[in-house]
Amino acid sequence: MQDRVVLITGASGGIGSAVARRLAREGASLVLAGRTQQKLDELAAECEGAGSPKAVAVATDVTLKAQVEALFARASATFAQIDVVLNAAGLGILKAIQHLSEEDLDRQLAVNLKGTFLSCQAAVPIMSQQPAGGHIFNIPGILGQYPMATAAAYCASKYAVVGLTKSMALDLKRANVRFTLLYLGGLNTPFWDNAGMRVQRDKMLSAETAADAVAFALAVPAPGVPNEIVIQPDSHQFL
Ligand SMILES: NC(=O)c1ccc[n+]([C@@H]2O[C@H](COP(=O)([O-])OP(=O)(O)OC[C@H]3O[C@@H](n4cnc5c(N)ncnc54)[C@H](OP(=O)(O)O)[C@@H]3O)[C@@H](O)[C@H]2O)c1
Repeated sequence: MQDRVVLITGASGGIGSAVARRLAREGASLVLAGRTQQKLDELAAECEGAGSPKAVAVATDVTLKAQVEALFARASATFAQIDVVLNAAGLGILKAIQHLSEEDLDRQLAVNLKGTFLSCQAAVPIMSQQPAGGHIFNIPGILGQYPMATAAAYCASKYAVVGLTKSMALDLKRANVRFTLLYLGGLNTPFWDNAGMRVQRDKMLSAETAADAVAFALAVPAPGVPNEIVIQPDSHQFL
C-alpha cells in the first residue's frame, strides 16, 4: 500500500478503524472522516505511529453534501490522488415495523444510503481522471442481501446501497473505477451498542475480518476486482 491514499468514512468506528490500522501498517496514507474530531485525531496519530506516511483527520457529517465535498477537497489538496474510498459510516436501528418511527427510517437512509451516495459522487470524478483509476468499497453487510425481523428500515437502506453500487458500476464501465460490495455478517463493533437488539457479541466476526477482506480485494491485480465478498461466521453459512 506504499504510495496509495485511502479515504475512510466512519473511520472512528469498528470497521473503519480496523481497516485504517491494517492499511497504515501496510504503508498507506489515510484520510479519516467521521463526525468526532478527537477520535479521528487519536486514530490518525496511531496510524502514523504504525507506518502510515501521513494520516489526516477531517470531521465530516456524511449526510451533508457540503461537508462531503469539503472532505474530498481537503483530501485532494493534501494528496496527489485518492486511490481507495471505504464508505464505512453507518448505523442500525433495529425494531419491528410496528415500532419504527419515521425518524428511524430517515436517519438510516440519510447515513447509510445518502452518505454513501454523496461520497461516491464526490470520489468518482477524481478517480476517473487518475491514470490508475480508483477502488470504492461499500458495505451493505449481509442485510443488504437477506431480510431480518426488526431490520425493515435498515435492510431498505442496505439493499439500496447494493442497487446504487451496481448501477454506478454500469455508469462507469469505462471510467477505471472498481467497486467491491462487502456482505459481512455480524461483527463485534460499537454498531451494536445502540442498535436496540441483544446479540451474542462473542460469537460474532471481529472487525479485523473486514480489514482482511479489504486487504484481499486491494491485492487482486488490476484489471481484476472482487465485486462481492461475503463473509459469515461458520454458524451462519449461506444464510
Ligand atoms: N458491525 C456489524 O455487525 C456490521 C455488519 C455488516 C455491515 N455493517 C455496516 O458497516 C458499516 C460500519 O459499521 P461498524 O460496525 O464499524 O459501526 P460503528 O462501529 O458503529 O461505526 C460507525 C461509524 O460511522 C460514523 N458515523 C455515523 N454517523 C455518521 C455521519 N452522519 N457522518 C459521518 N460518520 C458517521 C461513526 O462515527 P461518529 O459517530 O463519530 O460520526 C462511526 O465512525 C455500517 O454501514 C454498518 O451498517 C456492520
